[in-house]
Amino acid sequence: MSPEAGREHWGSRLGFILAAVGSAVGLGNMWRFSYLTAENGGAAFVILYVAVTLVVGLPVLLAEFAIGRGSGRSPIGALAHFGGRAWTPLGWIFVATGFLILAYYSVIAGWTVRYAVTAAAQGFGPDAGAFFGRVESGWDAVAWHAGFMLATVAIVAGGVKAGIERAAVVLMPLLFLMVVALAIYAATLAGSDGGYDFYLAADFGEILDWGVLQAAAGQAFFSLSLGMGAMLTYASYLSEHEHLPNESLFVALTDFAVAFIAGLAVFPMIFALGLQGEVMESTGGTLFITLPGAFSDMGAAGRVVGLVFFAALVVAALTSAISLLEVVVASAMDGLGWARRRAAVILGSVIAAMGVAAALSPKVLDVMDKTASNLLLPGGGLMLALFVGWVMRDPMAEVRRGAEGVRWFVLWRWLLRVPVPVVLAVVLWQSVPALWQTVLGLFG
Ligand code: TRP
Repeated sequence: MSPEAGREHWGSRLGFILAAVGSAVGLGNMWRFSYLTAENGGAAFVILYVAVTLVVGLPVLLAEFAIGRGSGRSPIGALAHFGGRAWTPLGWIFVATGFLILAYYSVIAGWTVRYAVTAAAQGFGPDAGAFFGRVESGWDAVAWHAGFMLATVAIVAGGVKAGIERAAVVLMPLLFLMVVALAIYAATLAGSDGGYDFYLAADFGEILDWGVLQAAAGQAFFSLSLGMGAMLTYASYLSEHEHLPNESLFVALTDFAVAFIAGLAVFPMIFALGLQGEVMESTGGTLFITLPGAFSDMGAAGRVVGLVFFAALVVAALTSAISLLEVVVASAMDGLGWARRRAAVILGSVIAAMGVAAALSPKVLDVMDKTASNLLLPGGGLMLALFVGWVMRDPMAEVRRGAEGVRWFVLWRWLLRVPVPVVLAVVLWQSVPALWQTVLGLFG
């Protein structure tokens, strides 16, 4: 039986779009984007980021959509379909990357679940740093991680339509409402003005720096879930009538919008409570220490705001985790002929077991994260750009199906041939030494 025969499809166009947005909007949107913006020129950085999203992120996103829909297969089969067997190793790397990212992503997601439950049950105490210390690692962290993996497996086991799509259709609008509500609430707080100034004060001098461009490109790429076939796999459940250019544009801009609005919530809240001195560079620090400190200072309102905030993080993490597991599950279904449930349960358990190492050791978690985001994802994206730019025969025909008469993407293949690989190579060039340092730190 060919992989396409009997393959499931999305129930609706909106379902596919929300699932893709769900993959993109994750923990990276809720803090890392706003932190980079505040550090690197405010509104000027926002403009640069949107430009980089359109020039680097969007072409690779459209490439993944085109390969996925055109082949109707998960990454290994899809690359072989358009490039021959020589390309299957790249597909294997994608699947391995799915295992690796989900193993530690689920540990962080477990923290967010525990924070949401804590906000609802008793609120945060005054010493948020000590609380994080207890949550971050140890057998408790293993248990919350396992619980989160269980939910992820249950949804993926439900299937494309009844599992993944249904979850996205319910959860994504909810997430959007929660983030907007938080931003509105933050605007009502006395003293929040300083937060907007800090976040968005435009400094065009800052963005004339190569390092800033690299950081923007790396973030745009990670935030769109590119470089490991997640978007490719989702697109493999599409029909021929979809307008891929419009859909990729919508997904990219929505991902940006959520990140931007999250910043409008985070900084004003921190400034209103006078905690700006405690903003930390790391994703973990501000999300899991500074903000809970702010919620604790808000008193009763902080219980509600804290719950909404961490519930939004849980939702963001869950819909991203689903897409990671789906890459692995779809590959086992296509390549080994496994039934969906069996693949979800067995492979989900393997990933959960790998995550135990990350839940017991923050250093291991850090190495897993840096290996994936500094090496495997930009490297995978570089290969994908070269694949569609130089190897695949007539990729334009693939995109044009369902999008006849659209002109704005004529530059697409050209961007994939030279500019995108160059930018990704530069991102890799600068991030590999950082990765090496982290690996050495494991032994130091
Ligand atoms: N985009 C996700 C975020 O912003 C993280 C991510 C990176 C991801 N690559 C992925 C999620 C691949 C799913 C699949 O947090």
